[in-house]
Amino acid sequence: MDKLVIEGGARLSGAIPVSGAKNAALPILCASLLTPEPLRLTNVPQLNDVRTMRTLLRQMGVAQDGSGGTLTLQAERIDWPLAPYELVKTMRASILALGPLVARCGEARVSLPGGCAIGLRPVDQHVKGLQAMGAEISLEHGYIEARAAQLAGVRFGFDLVTVTGTENLMMAATLAKGRTILENAAREPEVVDLARCLRAMGANILGEGTSRIVIEGVDALHGADHRVMPDRIETGTFAAAAAATHGDVTLEGADDASLHAVLDKLREAGATADAIGDAIRVRGNGALAPLQITTAPYPAFPTDMQAQMMALATRASGTSVVSETIFENRMMHVQELRRLGADIDVDGNAATIRGVARLTGANVMATDLRASACLVIAGLMADGETTIDRIYHLDRGYEKIDAKLSALGARIRRIS
Ligand code: EPZ
Repeated sequence: MDKLVIEGGARLSGAIPVSGAKNAALPILCASLLTPEPLRLTNVPQLNDVRTMRTLLRQMGVAQDGSGGTLTLQAERIDWPLAPYELVKTMRASILALGPLVARCGEARVSLPGGCAIGLRPVDQHVKGLQAMGAEISLEHGYIEARAAQLAGVRFGFDLVTVTGTENLMMAATLAKGRTILENAAREPEVVDLARCLRAMGANILGEGTSRIVIEGVDALHGADHRVMPDRIETGTFAAAAAATHGDVTLEGADDASLHAVLDKLREAGATADAIGDAIRVRGNGALAPLQITTAPYPAFPTDMQAQMMALATRASGTSVVSETIFENRMMHVQELRRLGADIDVDGNAATIRGVARLTGANVMATDLRASACLVIAGLMADGETTIDRIYHLDRGYEKIDAKLSALGARIRRIS
């Protein structure tokens, strides 16, 4: 199993390109199920989760062609509207096939995702929304079995904001009979990018990016070209690493408009973050100031940046408080940060981080995707060598992170 070894203390500097967004690419790949015509995508990130989604779609009968970040998918026929346990257990986002399959095929069999390291993560809102659109849904042998001759447009209010729930119902509604109104919908930029792709395919959608999305069902969708948006969480992760190492890093092809909450916090910590054309330049400026962070749905501070910012706070000149309101178990990185010498107390969903003068390198273990990014940043800040185990978590969501960090001057290597 691969590990990363980081020799801390290097000041990151230079420029790197930002990859396409994992959390936009995954639902957009599933959108290919909605039409028999080709969907041509560019800026598709080369990630393990994207590879898993492609395997899932291929076994359903979706033809694929492409290399690098360019990919053409065509679901001329869907032989098996099935998402098997073997694939779903490795990637919960497989649930995003449910809505498109019911809408296009009138049936779907999708393994119910289990819990994950960061929380229980039920999918009750996805199911409730499809039932409201007229789908008959049962749970048999660990599978969601869904059937509907044709989905019907409906007004549906989510009990809580859910990103993939919004994406699933928005995709299903594109081929439903009549109008669907989604209320308390997620406003994340990835939802907006999916809506843009669906509109290019002929869907009739209004209001994405707000909490009320209106979809007029159409008889059929057609092929389209779409460029996947830049990854705001990858951008935020490198921006935090730049601030943490008092570096000077330019992130090319980034979109600062999707990252205000994160860049504002980096500025509060004392860094500068300037948008320059389609790039963001982040410079660390000496001592890091303590932070108060509370995660919440977009446009508030993203939960997917909580761990990375906590790494920064471990060396701040004072006490920070980081509160996690989205997932009930997203503090697994705390124990590993303590191994590096961090001074952190956790009470419920809030962590109190008292800044220390130095971190010292150690062996640590990644527990989930963003926790592993946190440990990479902490390793860059620590004296001596840090070895991070189980980095398969990292490869799920970061494209060539060690090569990009090396290009910025980090002393980092991958060992197996
Ligand atoms: C998406 O997950 C992202 N994943 C997550 O990114 C991200 O952390 C999360 O949104 C929040 O921003 C993808 O887009 C593939 P939710 P999702 O449904 O959609 C509860 C990463 O690191 N809930 O918005 O699964 C749920 O348990 C990943 O890239 C229900 O109770 O998250 C959670 O507490 C991790 N019932 C909250 O809502 C439901 O039916 C928000 O979850 C659905 C969700």
